[in-house]
Formats: sequence, C-alpha cells, structure tokens
Amino acid sequence: MRASLRVRQTAAVTLLIALAMIMLSLQHVANLARVGLEDSHGIGDLLGRTIYQRARDAIAAGGDPESALRTDAGIRSILESTAAYSRNVTYAAVVDNEGRAIAHSFPAAEGQRIEPGENLAAVLDRDTLTQIRAIYADRALEVVLPLELGDAPFGAIRVGLSPILIRDGLAKAVQPMLWTTALISCAAILVGMILAGLILRPIHVINSGLMKLQRGEKVGSIELPADEELEGVGESFRAISEKLAARSLGRLMAGVTHEVRNPLNAMTIHLELVREHLHRLQRSSRAPVGAVLGLEGREEPPPDMSGAREHIDVIASEIKRLDEVITGFVRFIRPEELQLQPVNVQSVISEVIALVEPDARRSGIVCRAEVSSAGEMRADPALLRQALLNLALNGCQAMPNGGKLTMGAKTAKDRRVAITIEDTGVGIAADKLDSIFDLYYTTKPEGSGIGLSIVYRIVQLHGGEIEVQSTEGRGTTFRLLLPQM
Ligand SMILES: Nc1ncnc2c1ncn2[C@@H]1O[C@H](COP(=O)(O)OP(=O)(O)OP(=O)(O)O)[C@@H](O)[C@H]1O
Ligand SMILES: [Mg+2]
Repeated sequence: MRASLRVRQTAAVTLLIALAMIMLSLQHVANLARVGLEDSHGIGDLLGRTIYQRARDAIAAGGDPESALRTDAGIRSILESTAAYSRNVTYAAVVDNEGRAIAHSFPAAEGQRIEPGENLAAVLDRDTLTQIRAIYADRALEVVLPLELGDAPFGAIRVGLSPILIRDGLAKAVQPMLWTTALISCAAILVGMILAGLILRPIHVINSGLMKLQRGEKVGSIELPADEELEGVGESFRAISEKLAARSLGRLMAGVTHEVRNPLNAMTIHLELVREHLHRLQRSSRAPVGAVLGLEGREEPPPDMSGAREHIDVIASEIKRLDEVITGFVRFIRPEELQLQPVNVQSVISEVIALVEPDARRSGIVCRAEVSSAGEMRADPALLRQALLNLALNGCQAMPNGGKLTMGAKTAKDRRVAITIEDTGVGIAADKLDSIFDLYYTTKPEGSGIGLSIVYRIVQLHGGEIEVQSTEGRGTTFRLLLPQM
C-alpha cells in the first residue's frame, strides 16, 4: 500500500529536521570529545613537565642517574601527590629506555615494565572518529616527555590519563541532545502535518471539482487560496468547465436540431405532394368533380381551391422560417474547436473588403482599410474572416443611402490587436445596444438576427473582447480586441 501524499510529505519534513538535529548533535559530540582530550593533554603535559624539570635537576646533581631519580625526594613527593593533582591522572612514572619504571606513583610498580598507553598527542592529531575510539577504548591515554642524558636518550616521563571522565562528560551532553532531537522531531511531525494539509488543500478542491465535472455536474468556479502559485488555476478551471458545458450543450443542441429537421423535411415534401394533389384536382375540375372522384352522374360545381392553397403557402413559409431559425442556430453553436494559426490582419481585412465592395459600391458606399502596425496575430482565419464579414455587412446594411465603411487594425496594450469596423450609417439607439448581440435579435425585415451573436461567440472563443459605440444618425463603430501572436 502506498502512503498518502500527506504522510509522505510529513515524513520527509520530519526526516529532514531529525537529520539536521542528528548532524548538529554529532558535531557537538565531536567538539566535546576534542575539548575533553585537549584538557586531559594539558593536565598530563603540565604534570609531566614538572617531573621532567625535577628529574633534570636530580640527574645534574651527579652520581648514578637511575638511583638519583629513584631517591630524589622532590620527584617522590610529586609522584605521590598525582592522585590529588587531578582525577584524570591515573599514574605518573619516570621510565628507562626499555620502559621499565625507575620511579612510579605506585612504588610497587617500580622496576617493572609499564605497558605503553595511547599517545594522547598523536590522538589529538587524528580525525574525530579515531579520537572517539580512543576515548571508548580500554587502553589508558598517555602524555610522554622524552628524557635525555647528555645527547643520548635516557628514558621518558610518562603520565597516564583516564578517559572515563571524558566519557562521562560526553554521556551527559548526549542525553539532553537525544531528548531535544526527539522533541523537535515530534514538533516537526505536527508542523509537517499542518503544512501538508495547507499545501494539499487546493489539490483536494481541484480534485473534487474534477469529480463533479466527471459526473457531468456544472462547476462554476472553485474556491482556491489567493496564492501566487495558484493564480490562474481557478480561472483556467472555470474556462475548461464552461467549455465542457458548452461542448456538451452544443452536442445536445446539434442532436435536437437534427431530430427537428427530419420531420420538417418530411413536412415540406408532403406539403408539396398536397399542393400537387390540389393542382391535379383543379386541372380536372373542368370535368365534373364526381367524375374525378369516380362518382359518375353527379353534377357538382368545381371546388374553390384558392383558400386551401393560401393555407398551404402559409404553412410552407412557416416551415421555411423554422428551417432558417434552425440553420442559424446550427451555425451559432458551431464551432467547438479553434484552428489557431498565425494570421496577417491586413490580408484578412483586404479579403473582407474585396467581398463586400461590389455591393457596397452600388449603394454608394466607399470602403477603406486603415491598418497600422498590427502585423500578425494568432487566430482561426476562417472564423476571423466570418466575424469581420458579418460586421462589414451590418455596416453596409446600415448605410442604404451610401456612406463610408472603414476597417482598421492597430496594436493595443496587453499584447493585443484592436480591429475596428466603422460605418457612417443609421446608428443604434442606446436602449437597443444591449440587445444587438442576442441570438435572433434583428430589426431588418429579411434579417435573421444571427450575425452579431456569431461575431460575439467567435471573439469569445479567441479569448477577446468586443465593444460597440454608436450614435443614432451618425454611425456605429465596433472594436474587437484580440490576442496578438
Ligand atoms: N452597424 C450597424 N448599424 C446599425 N445597426 C446595427 C449595426 N450592426 C448591427 N445592428 C443592429 O443589430 C441587429 C442585429 O444584427 P445581426 O447582425 O445580429 O442580425 P441582422 O444583421 O439583423 O441579421 P443577420 O443574421 O442576417 O446578420 C441588426 O438587426 C441591427 O438592428
Ligand atoms: Mg447582420
């Protein structure tokens, strides 16, 4: 079983802090060990030098040096007081070249060879591990001062030192350190758990949002903390959720319109058949109706079909209108995906002007392009062309008695391109400005009211904005703000 992210994160934080504590503790222990050894060396060295001085004086007095050293009252008194000198000192002795004790703090050891201990000066020159090993070894530590007779080595002063006191010091220091490490590790677990909870909370929020999306529920926005790292995540989530909702709605609508269209087609065909049938009936009305219906002998006047035909025409035109509404709706709900690519704004505007110009000229409209520094932008070229064409057509339709249509483009702030479509037409009343982007809103007898809603959707799909400014009788300007390359 894999531990949860929260547990792993907490374990990592705790381990890191515990490791740091252990490293610090080890460093402290190493320092303590070195200081302990240096102290012991200082004590041993001082005692050794005192004996050395005395020994030099005794030898200088003449006679047999060994017996002089053995019988010198000064040396004897120093050796006897070593135990009082320091608790670290275990023995002190003057030895000959073979290591046999000439004078010893334990007189019983005199004349015997003394096992050499670990040379403390050498230990101090070694690494921490060797020093710790020396402290915990069974061998005594020794300070050795060589003794000469004339130029020849004569023996040495050896001071034995016990590492027990250093060990005690270390043990006393390590215990609180272990407690502190344990305490800080517990605190680290607690802090780690709280931190992990805080850090992972947004993931839980995102996860529950995703689960909702998976279940097909609508998720507007998700509540994320206002942290720099999470900036944009909530916004992207909302955009994705809206896109998914729009896509599923689009699919649903496409299905519905398909299902509505089939019966409409059937109705159109059957209406044509009825019309044909009536036509045939009328044609044969020169013959008595009874003959047409196979009832010979009955003399009846020809039926009046004009009323029926009128009804059929109304039904046919209503079916046509319904079909147009559905066609417009299908155009509106498409497309679901954008084919983004670099698009040259100038050439799109030129294409649109070339499309509207022939008709516009006939209505006395002058078309102009004013492109400055817009360059390339990232867009779906077909959709952009469609949006600009719808706007240009609206502009021309608003100038039945001629005027000027200007399509411009220039770079705008926030790395965007501003495309403007300006006409000198009838303008839009202020209270109608809010409705013009509504699907099926139109003021034109032949209009379907789809053009601007498609423009709005295309701009939205590109992550852009659309603005409109209009004065009745003066003209209208649409401004599209779309992202640059
Ligand atoms: N440049 C304009 N000047 C004046 N009115 C406008 C302009 N553009 C749009 N409108 C108004 O907004 C309405 C909606 O425009 P929209 O393009 O959506 O539909 P439409 O042009 O009526 O029909 P179609 O679906 O054929 O485009 C128009 O009927 C018109 O009243
Ligand atoms: Mg239009």
